[in-house]
Amino acid sequence: MRTCLIVLLVICFGHLKHLSAQYYDEPQEHQCLKCHSNHSFSFHNELMDREEKRLMNPYYVMDTLAMRTGVHNVFDCVDCHSFDYTAYPHQSNLKLEPMNTCLDCHGGDESFATYQFERIDEEFKKSVHARVYGDLFTCAKCHSQHTYTATARTSSSVKEIVAYSNQMCLSCHNSMERYEMISGRGNPELVKVHSWLPNQQLHFENVRCIECHTEVQDSLMVSHNILPKSQAVKKCVECHSANSKLKASLYKYENLQNRGEKGVFGNLISNESYVIGTHQVPFLRWLSIVILIGVLGGVLVHVIFRILKK
Ligand code: HEC
Ligand code: HEC
Ligand code: HEC
Ligand code: HEC
Ligand code: HEC
Ligand code: HEC
Ligand code: HEC
Repeated sequence: MRTCLIVLLVICFGHLKHLSAQYYDEPQEHQCLKCHSNHSFSFHNELMDREEKRLMNPYYVMDTLAMRTGVHNVFDCVDCHSFDYTAYPHQSNLKLEPMNTCLDCHGGDESFATYQFERIDEEFKKSVHARVYGDLFTCAKCHSQHTYTATARTSSSVKEIVAYSNQMCLSCHNSMERYEMISGRGNPELVKVHSWLPNQQLHFENVRCIECHTEVQDSLMVSHNILPKSQAVKKCVECHSANSKLKASLYKYENLQNRGEKGVFGNLISNESYVIGTHQVPFLRWLSIVILIGVLGGVLVHVIFRILKK
């Protein structure tokens, strides 16, 4: 009898542990990602009582690698999304669920004060996007809450910062679907719009869109007021000069300044005025000096021989 009770207790305990493991230890994320990290998924069709396979909407496939390195990697899916999503098929009224915006969580929070979320919000509200589309143009249109990383603040590579930032704009301005979803019309072709700019590819790899399209705010890490196109920077000397605009924007980051390399910022910022189209390659400069010495030496030898002959 006693052993019977003990066995019963052990079984009960084991079962409880199993249950708790299922509901508490294993994050829901793994459940969600069984479907949301692949291009197809399977589920149990209760009506037909069988397993079925379907294709996943490609826009709903998560980039799990980018999520793991993003600033919100501590969150489980259901911290932001309704717990009701654990059931599939998802209830249709979940589509109406209001989602938190950046300010809902970060506004007024001292621990994120260095990011100045409120000031960013103020600046963003003045931008062309907010003016035309109001609340419908959320911060999330540029910043995925799933994957965002504060790259300008943390990276020490100009190219990486530029690529990350520009991808946020290009994900929409180079995507017919996304642009049309918001504006209801096709997107202007960026290559054509910027045809006045020589070496477009090189420029888009070395400067951010926001360098030309925002008003620089000294006190903000990243300017958020996208100006109308008529106010965009078109003059070459704004960057290609000793007091380049870039000093106050892209090149101001401490994480870049600390790289300790000299000539980090290429030819753009030097005391000599920058001549467009020339690249100051150190080897070529040395070569020109060597040639100069060679020529002078040649002349000298020639003169000496002439004097000796006389
Ligand atoms: C069995 C597969 C499956 C599982 C598990 C699953 N989803 Fe989904 N989810 C889908 C599919 C398929 C869609 C596309 C829309 C639909 O069919 O309802 C979707 C759509 C969504 C959407 C977009 C809804 C919309 O229309 O705007 C969200 C958000 C979402 N899922 C979150 C979650 C979360 C969070 C979890 C985990 C708690 C989860 N899903 C688990 C298959 C799944
Ligand atoms: C930090 C909060 C947060 C977390 C954590 C989060 N999401 Fe989301 N998710 C959002 C927001 C906000 C949106 C709406 C995006 C928008 O408005 O464009 C969204 C949208 C979605 C969508 C709709 C497709 C899209 O991109 O618009 C799916 C699917 C989705 N999330 C699935 C997931 C899954 C699966 C997880 C866990 C692996 C997860 N989310 C974790 C905030 C979050
Ligand atoms: C659901 C609440 C929530 C939402 C919505 C949210 N965040 Fe966060 N965010 C947090 C929390 C909590 C942390 C701290 C995470 C940690 O401790 O690792 C964080 C961390 C961050 C960090 C890193 C801070 C640091 O110094 O470590 C940045 C940057 C950030 N969020 C930006 C954003 C942006 C931009 C948005 C809007 C697109 C946003 N967040 C939306 C809750 C949120
Ligand atoms: C038009 C696109 C766009 C919109 C809309 C937008 N941002 Fe940004 N945001 C950017 C870009 C680009 C960066 C630079 C990315 C990086 O961190 O390298 C950035 C950076 C940030 C940073 C990091 C700044 C730092 O100090 O490191 C925060 C915080 C931020 N945005 C918050 C917001 C909030 C809050 C909103 C909505 C009120 C918003 N953003 C709307 C494009 C946008
Ligand atoms: C060197 C400065 C510069 C850079 C870098 C730059 N732009 Fe522009 N952009 C301009 C100027 C100037 C105009 C206005 C052109 C005109 O009206 O002839 C413009 C126009 C535009 C327009 C308006 C299109 C239209 O006609 O409706 C968009 C959208 C745009 N740029 C997006 C971007 C994006 C996205 C990036 C980054 C990939 C970018 N720009 C990089 C200077 C720049
Ligand atoms: C989710 C889509 C989306 C994203 C992301 C986005 N834009 Fe736009 N942008 C639009 C749409 C739509 C318009 C057209 C607004 C209108 O109707 O005038 C626009 C207009 C513009 C214009 C032209 C304004 C004018 O005077 O016509 C510029 C410049 C611009 N965006 C730059 C940027 C930059 C820089 C970024 C990244 C920091 C960015 N956009 C991110 C959708 C987007
Ligand atoms: C927003 C700042 C900015 C503006 C405006 C700008 N440039 Fe540039 N430009 C750059 C940067 C950054 C590079 C890359 C410099 C490097 O790394 O050598 C560059 C590179 C170049 C190069 C290639 C130089 C080389 O060494 O190969 C040429 C040519 C050039 N720009 C011409 C122009 C002309 C012409 C204009 C005006 C129509 C212009 N740029 C406007 C920032 C700018």
